[in-house]
Amino acid sequence: MGKKVMLITGGAGGLGVATGNKLKDYKIVVADYSDEVVNKAVEEYKNNGFDAVGFKSDITSKDEVKSLIEFTKKQGEFGGLVHTAGVSETVHDVDKIFNINLKGTALIVDAVYEIAEKDSSIVLFSSMMGHTIPPNDKYDEALRNSLASNSLDIVKEFVKDDSSIMYNFTKRGVMLIVADNVMRFGKKGSRINSISPGVIMTKMGLKAAEEHPEIINQMLSMTALGRTGEPDDIADVVKFMVSKESRFMTGTDILVDGGLIPSIKKQAKK
Ligand SMILES: NC(=O)c1ccc[n+]([C@@H]2O[C@H](COP(=O)([O-])OP(=O)(O)OC[C@H]3O[C@@H](n4cnc5c(N)ncnc54)[C@H](O)[C@@H]3O)[C@@H](O)[C@H]2O)c1
Repeated sequence: MGKKVMLITGGAGGLGVATGNKLKDYKIVVADYSDEVVNKAVEEYKNNGFDAVGFKSDITSKDEVKSLIEFTKKQGEFGGLVHTAGVSETVHDVDKIFNINLKGTALIVDAVYEIAEKDSSIVLFSSMMGHTIPPNDKYDEALRNSLASNSLDIVKEFVKDDSSIMYNFTKRGVMLIVADNVMRFGKKGSRINSISPGVIMTKMGLKAAEEHPEIINQMLSMTALGRTGEPDDIADVVKFMVSKESRFMTGTDILVDGGLIPSIKKQAKK
């Protein structure tokens, strides 16, 4: 039997590549925004002895996501999805953040459901910042239904034009998507979870650190382990999440932030 297939969106990005590098036992499907970055990532995998193929796909396009899933299905037995594609607040565009981080996630989860099979594992990327947004009936309903035409407007009533807040809301939305999908994936014997990284030094993390060094320094001073995260800190946990070792774990979020969120929550109570 051939290797199982692992689809990695944002597969050319920092956490996508770091995770793929831990998954040599799988055939990797690298999906990302442009042919150029996809081909480069695939070439690197192949040079390192990996079995990898690529497919350009914008995750905000329903048609492109559909084609990506059809391509993935043809590659062999489906092992899972690591959905890292996303943007941070540094794009300074609340609509774009909503569309990519939340609508894109809803689209890919719906599409991947069609090929999910027994023992496959889906890992979505939330963020520790998603843990800072409290539950609320009105915006939670909109976050859960991001594909509905009025959802963005409802969420914007709360976030206004603040890209950082929109980012945090979309990452709460990712956790809600996990909760809403756990039963239907479970009926296929497939698992779905999310991971919430803290500050990780990828291109995305470095850009945020450059724009707001004061915030990063304050976060560092509040982080129990006293350092920012490396991509491998996340990739090792994702490796566990897609493996058999996590076989009874589904419908949950794993916070991997060096111990920052507990400090933020404690501070907020004072
Ligand atoms: N780095 C951090 O500090 C951090 C912290 C918490 C959460 N996260 C989350 O982890 C995930 C990965 O982040 P990263 O640090 O690897 O960032 P990154 O910028 O290195 O990688 C993100 C990748 O997503 C791709 N992408 C963006 N929009 C896309 C679209 N519409 N269609 C297809 N691909 C698209 C980009 O091309 C890029 O390769 C993101 O969802 C991010 O929100 C990162």
